[in-house]
Amino acid sequence: MSTNIESERMLETPRPPFLQRIEFGGDYNPEQWSPQIWDEDVQLMRRAGVTVATVGVFSWARLEPRPGEYCFKWLDDILDRLHKGGIQVMLATATASPPPWMATLHPDSLPETAEGTRLGPGSRQHYSPSSSAFRTHALRLVEKIVERYAGHPALCAWHIGNEYGCHVPKSYDTESTTAFRAWLQQKYGTVAALNDAWCTAFWAQEYQSFEEVSVPRATPTFPNPTQMLDFDRFSSDALLHLYLAELSIVRRITPDIPVTTNFMGMFKSADYWSWVQHLDFISDDVYPDPADEDSYVGLAAQRDLMRSLAAGKPWIVMESATSAVQWRSVNVPKPRGLHRLQSLQAVARGADGILHFQWRQSYGGAERFHSSMVPHAGPESRIFKEVCSLGSELADLGQLTGLRVQADVAFILDWDSWRAVEQDAMPSTVSYLDHLLAWYRPFLRAGITVDFQPASADLSVYAMVVAPMLHVVTERTAENLARVVDGGNVLIVGCFSGVVNEDLHVWLGGYLGPLRPILGVRVEEYAPVNPGLPLAIDGLVKGTASTWQDVVVNEDAEVIASFMDGYAVSSPALTRREKNNGAAWYVATLPSPELMDQLVARWVGESQVTPLLAAPVDGVEAVQRGDITFLINHRAEEREVEIGPSEIVRLGGYQVFSNAITTNSNDGVTSRAEFHSC
Ligand code: GAL
Repeated sequence: MSTNIESERMLETPRPPFLQRIEFGGDYNPEQWSPQIWDEDVQLMRRAGVTVATVGVFSWARLEPRPGEYCFKWLDDILDRLHKGGIQVMLATATASPPPWMATLHPDSLPETAEGTRLGPGSRQHYSPSSSAFRTHALRLVEKIVERYAGHPALCAWHIGNEYGCHVPKSYDTESTTAFRAWLQQKYGTVAALNDAWCTAFWAQEYQSFEEVSVPRATPTFPNPTQMLDFDRFSSDALLHLYLAELSIVRRITPDIPVTTNFMGMFKSADYWSWVQHLDFISDDVYPDPADEDSYVGLAAQRDLMRSLAAGKPWIVMESATSAVQWRSVNVPKPRGLHRLQSLQAVARGADGILHFQWRQSYGGAERFHSSMVPHAGPESRIFKEVCSLGSELADLGQLTGLRVQADVAFILDWDSWRAVEQDAMPSTVSYLDHLLAWYRPFLRAGITVDFQPASADLSVYAMVVAPMLHVVTERTAENLARVVDGGNVLIVGCFSGVVNEDLHVWLGGYLGPLRPILGVRVEEYAPVNPGLPLAIDGLVKGTASTWQDVVVNEDAEVIASFMDGYAVSSPALTRREKNNGAAWYVATLPSPELMDQLVARWVGESQVTPLLAAPVDGVEAVQRGDITFLINHRAEEREVEIGPSEIVRLGGYQVFSNAITTNSNDGVTSRAEFHSC
């Protein structure tokens, strides 16, 4: 390796340690380019204010062209050049996609679909998470890379794998089947316990031994729901174990270098609550659709989830696109100013880094039409100019690093419930995320920041806890939620909650099961409603709702409003039970956006939560990081926002106002230093 004191000396500016400023950069894939371009890359990175490059994510075939034959010279060269240019390197373990020889030597390492189709090489991520051959080769490579670059001065962090489960969240191959059996044996101990949990008395599914149990391959009709859920859980664990195997090598050789892997926002296939303790900082990949003017709602929620997963550790955007992606059916570019706006939204919600996929736009391969920091048009382009101005703007926001975003409201995000409600053979086709976001939106509109939490978390610090659809409930989670109310805070539970336990067995005698005494109601029947059919609600609160009706029986609560029509006509739609100055609400439907705004205003009134906005404004969000307030207008049109008694801020299209932004950005989107009172 040619790292040396000389290259140290050539550093023009001393670097603050990693994550001590808002990091800026992206995935750098130099193997796609000649060394002449590498020099230009470093110069352009410096011009753009890049602080960190993620290198080597898809470099395995170049690093180990034949099994056991390694070729690191080019990577040495790249790291030296980057270091010389003052760019830090987040070095990948390069295991995201195996080289073609893996499939030739070990065809069994290829993943299989539920239908039994073996997925071949020629794309990426063509490995089964449970493949022992893949694991052996991958770990050998990791050890080589970590040993070689452990002391390289450019190295600031390890990037393990890449987007675990992105293309192959589950594999149904033979080794996965064996691993699944072992996982089940560990979980249940005896096959009788498994039969009990899976309710195999139904449809003659009783097993006599673990050897008879399989991964849930394609079946003639509805598969066993608990088997499906266990396979979801197993598959998430299989990915995690792969990550942990790499991690243990990295930790042994470089215990002081921070480690991450990139998450994919709300990703159903990996239960990130069980991953986060193994990461030193959280990274997220995020590609909102510029054609969807409401994508900012999911985007804000995704940022909030990352901050919540990080739980005080730093988090960064590992991948974002400067403009269009290439994987939707129509790939609309980002309008001028939108990428800056979305990047600042991430910073406002706690991010300490804005990185991109990728640095230089490929001229060949499946991603040649995906935008990048240096587009095909080269540096003399609008996109590169905007990249440079974003880089300098983020450099000026260094004082935000480490400042916390405080939330008084927690939303329960429960992977088991998510997976369960989206299974087949349910009362209705439900999108857990759509439902969650329909609940999140009114809080965002009000300028109320939300943390996400698992149902088992300590919720005592929150003035309000919202469980939009906690379908899976155990006695323990119910006890945890009861403590919210006992502590004098507000608990809000949405429809189709409390239906089953962790084995997906229905709570008998009235749905809501162990939540019944907390809410003071039980649910006798469900009545899903066809899309588009509005439901009227009347009482102390009036409005409309849609999608769902629980037939609620009041036991010990106050009925706030009832259904005026539909199957559940005259049964309670909104109930409230008070205890110890706390209150537990049940919402037996999906309120319309207007009713949601009304309800949030009411819940704010009875809790210690203070919205940042005096009234919701379409497309505008407000959030506070430390004592810095951000107002963000996600619409192309101007908006006027009231933020306090007679304090009005006028926001142009795609504008961000913050008392942290002191300069006008030079991309034509202006920022102002202070709010103006009038
Ligand atoms: C991510 C992946 C990147 C790139 C990007 C394109 O899923 O990690 O390598 O493919 O998508 O949007």
